[in-house]
Amino acid sequence: MSPLLEVSELVKTYPVKRNLLGRVRERTTVTDHVSFTVERGETLGIVGESGAGKSTVGRLVLRLIEPDSGSVAFEGRDVLALSKKELRAFRQRAQMIFQDPFSSLDPHMTIREAVGEPLTIHRGLKGSERDAAVTALLGRVGLRVDQLDKYPREFSGGQLQRIAIARALATEPDFIVCDEPVAALDVSIQAQVLNLLIDLQRERGLAYVFVSHDLSLVRFLAHRVVVMQKGVIVETGPTEQVFTDPQHPYTRKLLEAIPDPRAHFLARRAEVLAGKAVAATAGPAKES
Ligand SMILES: Nc1ncnc2c1ncn2[C@@H]1O[C@H](COP(=O)(O)OP(=O)(O)OP(=O)(O)O)[C@@H](O)[C@H]1O
Ligand SMILES: [Mg+2]
Repeated sequence: MSPLLEVSELVKTYPVKRNLLGRVRERTTVTDHVSFTVERGETLGIVGESGAGKSTVGRLVLRLIEPDSGSVAFEGRDVLALSKKELRAFRQRAQMIFQDPFSSLDPHMTIREAVGEPLTIHRGLKGSERDAAVTALLGRVGLRVDQLDKYPREFSGGQLQRIAIARALATEPDFIVCDEPVAALDVSIQAQVLNLLIDLQRERGLAYVFVSHDLSLVRFLAHRVVVMQKGVIVETGPTEQVFTDPQHPYTRKLLEAIPDPRAHFLARRAEVLAGKAVAATAGPAKES
């Protein structure tokens, strides 16, 4: 069986210099022949310094931006060749969660509308049927049902990220690109949101591309990891292998930048597990 997602030789460049007539004189290569696969139910971590091209890869695989060359296949189908209608169907199966949930939600839409919109567009749900689905989704991500008619500004960052997750789940996706999904949240709340993502993956067989600066988070979450430096994948492999036996000097440099990788990892894991314990005993709405 083909992998869920197969990315081959993706090249993306942007113009950097133009002449007086506006013609492009020089381009910068942001992703340079990037290739990887993602299997069903798997988390692929993407790490690398700021500007390495991680978010660009995320946007390319969802075809939110077009590559200069290369290919993206989802279940063996060429994503770059999809018609408008087919692209809509693909977007139903492949979603994105961003670092800043506030900017990913329309400030003028209530939560009922924000989560209900994809249910109507993609699944044709209306009225009470739609409301029941919204309530179920928000319950699943740990929000109370009496909050349905509030606006994004009335929620905390962690709650907003839960809402963004509910909205992403509304189309019943198989695959979600998570681009620094907890980077803007407090550490205690990060753990809760990460545990939610892990639980949802187990429940629904979701595959994630998980982009993060935080190597200990990636170590905790990802089955395999891709290390990017200046648009190039310099190393890839099973997470534990890459973390315990890094082959590329850049990977070693990234790992050394964590003050004490082992201690930091264990501390983070303890935090995440503590968050899990809190969520299990007191209910996920606890953070509010
Ligand atoms: N629309 C654009 N026009 C020109 N350059 C761009 C554009 N989008 C991204 N870039 C450049 O591409 C490079 C990679 O950007 P990208 O956002 O993918 O990096 P990143 O690894 O996600 O970084 P960060 O960790 O800071 O989020 C950067 O140098 C960025 O300036
Ligand atoms: Mg980024």
